[in-house]
Order: sequence, then structure tokens, then C-alpha cells
Amino acid sequence: MANNARLYLDKYFKIAKTDHRIFGSFIEHLGRAVYSGIYEPGHPQADAHGFRKDVMELIKELAVPIIRYPGGNFVSGYNWEDGIGPVEQRPTRLELAWRSIETNDFGLNEFMSWTQRVGAAPMLAINLGTRGIDAARNLIEYTNHPGGSYWSDLRKQHGYDEPYKIRTWCLGNEMDGPWQIGHKTAEEYGRLAAETAKAMRQVDPDIELVVCGSSHDQMPTFAEWEATVLSHTYDYVDYISLHKYLGNRDNNLANYLAETDRVEEFIKAVIAICDYVKARKRSKKTLYLSFDEWNVWYHSNAQDQKVKPWSKAPRLLEDVYTFEDALVVGLFLITLFKHADRVRIACLAQLVNVIAPIMTSPGGGAWKQTIYYPYYHASRYGRGTVLRPELISPVYHTDQHQGVNFIEAIGVLSEDEREITLFAVNRSQDSPMELECTLNNLGDLELIEHIVLEHQDIKATNTEEDPDNVKPHNQGRTTVKGHRALAELPALSWNVVRLRVIR
Ligand code: AHR
Repeated sequence: MANNARLYLDKYFKIAKTDHRIFGSFIEHLGRAVYSGIYEPGHPQADAHGFRKDVMELIKELAVPIIRYPGGNFVSGYNWEDGIGPVEQRPTRLELAWRSIETNDFGLNEFMSWTQRVGAAPMLAINLGTRGIDAARNLIEYTNHPGGSYWSDLRKQHGYDEPYKIRTWCLGNEMDGPWQIGHKTAEEYGRLAAETAKAMRQVDPDIELVVCGSSHDQMPTFAEWEATVLSHTYDYVDYISLHKYLGNRDNNLANYLAETDRVEEFIKAVIAICDYVKARKRSKKTLYLSFDEWNVWYHSNAQDQKVKPWSKAPRLLEDVYTFEDALVVGLFLITLFKHADRVRIACLAQLVNVIAPIMTSPGGGAWKQTIYYPYYHASRYGRGTVLRPELISPVYHTDQHQGVNFIEAIGVLSEDEREITLFAVNRSQDSPMELECTLNNLGDLELIEHIVLEHQDIKATNTEEDPDNVKPHNQGRTTVKGHRALAELPALSWNVVRLRVIR
């Protein structure tokens, strides 16, 4: 096996500018995401609103630009009105999606105050499971209308004088899934989504809307669902959603690391369907993709079966991530970068405690899971223009995947064009590899740093007791000569090679 891969980039060969919102995330009323995650009155780190400052600091460090809320499956049974007004008057409900107790101590206005503190934009999902047009138009009147109407004046009465002007809205969640409260056929959902979109735009024409695609690409209705739903909604929406969770269920690392190749096929298929509907409608409009749930999710599945129903903030979906999961998250991010021309929004699902990069203990600390790091690096150094890669890598084959690149890599030129960052994963389990990079039309380059996430133990985790077991160092070996860089990529590693453009 040759141990070298080659990457050719050119300043003038561009995929697209990254929309910052591809570094988005998600907070659902699920398990301990909200209660004892971002919100824990009485915690030593809680501010006057009960928001955990230690958690807010970690989120600010990630520079999360947009956060989807309040679900997820939760939203399909949610009455948004339960979460507004005086807290002591809010009802406690049976929450059917996760079979928990929802006290509604935290609701819309608390979420909006919290997003303002962490510097993120909201992405609000509406309930198209048990509810529909009427609840949606009232909600957007409450959030976005300046005043002089029942719902906007109620917002003012609740102490929020200015409209929030929430721009990005999801028309329900995973409505193709039989597990969804109020599950619908593509015809039923497509019609409802179109009419709801029209009503919401009547209240605020400046919003943008995400219609539900399939819950994942293995759904029996995948592709037909997208085509039917878009045939009803194409003119009224801006994005279609994709969701995908990966897992190493068979403990086969070679297969697991190759799973992101399927994610790429999924993205290409959804783009093709959008463009098919565009052609059929003779439309001038291009539809974009909102990959608004993606991550690794499988570690907690068995444990979750044992959780007794009807408790408040139970420990659900608390995946403890391994080092190999961090590599998969890195590969997923590279896949999203490759499609920056069509994927405009993406949400790592989720943000705190529930399949999350950040974990907390009630009354205790907050720490970074292994997957925090690739997400952090992408968000920090991946803003700019994604360059179209010509990548030549040796490949491997498994029982499930053919022609898998040992090396995956992408380059992002910073907005001021003074830096170029290469993100690369070496999937090889036994060989370090060299990545020879030729970077044309950028002038001479020098190395800022080569960050590496690597670990002897692929199953290594970070815990409250040992939060720094898996963490990156910046002693990676890259040599630069003129417009060429030679990066050594250790076996099984995530690499961030930061290069400065010398004028
Ligand atoms: O993120 C966890 C769950 O995964 C969400 O509630 C749902 O939309 C998806 O199935």
C-alpha cells in the first residue's frame, strides 16, 4: 500500500463560501439537555436566570451560530403556549415522545434569552404533529410581530417588548417516521406544510422555512417522500431537512469510518431530488439543504430501554463518546464542507448531555466529550471559502464498502484570504500517511500550527473524573516549501493544518 495521498487546491477553484450556520447545533426538551444541562437554577454556576455559566462558556468557545429548538420528536406533541407567561402558572404535562414529565419551567422566552447570551441565532421548530396552521400563525405573531395584536401584546405583557424577528423555522420534525406523534403520509404532510408556510409568511414575509425530508436515507419512503413533499411545498420553502446518525454497532472500525461515504451519497441524492422538482416546476429557485440533525448515536440505546417513564429530566441518550467517534464526526464535517454550495445549515445533534459534545453533572462540572474537538476546529477555522479538492488517496475495501479513501481532506480559505486550513482524517488503522498538498495561486505559505487529535486507545473517552483523556495537541509534523505542504498524518487521526499566506 502506498503511504502517500495528494491534495491539489487552487484559490480560484471554489465550492462555495461556508454558511456559518453549518456549525449549528440543537437543544431539545429531551433528557437533561435543558434541565440540569443548560438550565439549572441553584447550581453554583447558575446566573440570575438559572442558566449555567460554565455551559454557556463552552458553547461560546464553540461559536455555535444557530441552535434548533425545542425538538426533535418533542415538538410534535408540544403546546408552545405552555412555556410562556408566569412560570408558576405553567402546566406540567406528560411528554409523549420521550415519556417524560415536562414542567415547562423553561420555554420560549427563556430559550430566546439564553441564545442571546450564548451569541446564537434561534431555529424554531413548529408542531405539525398534533397541531397545525393556527398554532403556527399564533406563535409567529407572538415572536415576530411588533405589537398591536393579541399575541404580540401578550409577549410585551410577558416582559419582552421587542419582537424577536426569528428568521429560520422548521415545519415540523421527521413527519415521515411512524414513531412521530401525528405521523403523516407525504401527501398529508406536504399539503399541511405548504399551507402552514403560506400562513406563516403572511405574518412575516422575511422568514425562511425548512420542510421535513426523510428521517434518514434508509427509510422505506426515502426519495419518494422528498419528491412528493417538494411537489407541494417547493415554492413556499427554502430548505429541505436531512437527518443521519451513525454508530459502530458491529464494532467494525473499517466499516464505521467508511459510513460517511454513505452520508455523501445521501446528500447527493437529496440534491438530485430537489433539482428534479425544480426542473419539473420550471422553477428558477434553487432549494438548499438543512442537515439539521447529524451525529453519532448508539452507545446509549440499550440503557435507554431501561429508563422508567414519567420522570423529569431522565438520563436519556447520554452517549459517552470514544476517540473513534471523534474521527467519524471529523469525517462528517469534511463531508458537509464538500457540499457547502448546497448545505447551508447543519446542526450537530445535540449540544448538551443528549448525544452531545458537552456533558454536565447536576450540581457538578461540565466537560468536553471527544467529539467536541473536531466540531470546535471546524467552527473556529472552517469559516471562509471551501476550495474544490482534487484528492488522490490509496483506498481500502470492506464487506460493506468499496474504494474507501484512507485519507479524506478538504481546505478552507479564510474570509480575509490570509490563512488556509486543511482538515484531514487518516482512516488507516496501522499506517501513518503523508499528505502532499499543492496549493496553487495563493503565493508562498508558512505553517501556523498542525493540530492533531490522536489516541492509543480507539475506545478512549473523556469523563468528569478524566476530562482531558482525549484532547488535541499542536505538535503535528508539517513542512512547508513555497506553495507546497507535506503533512504527516498519524494512523487514525484528525488533523487541522493551519497555513498562513505570505504576501
Ligand atoms: O436527536 C434525537 C432525536 O432524533 C430527535 O428528537 C428526532 O428528531 C430524531 O429521531
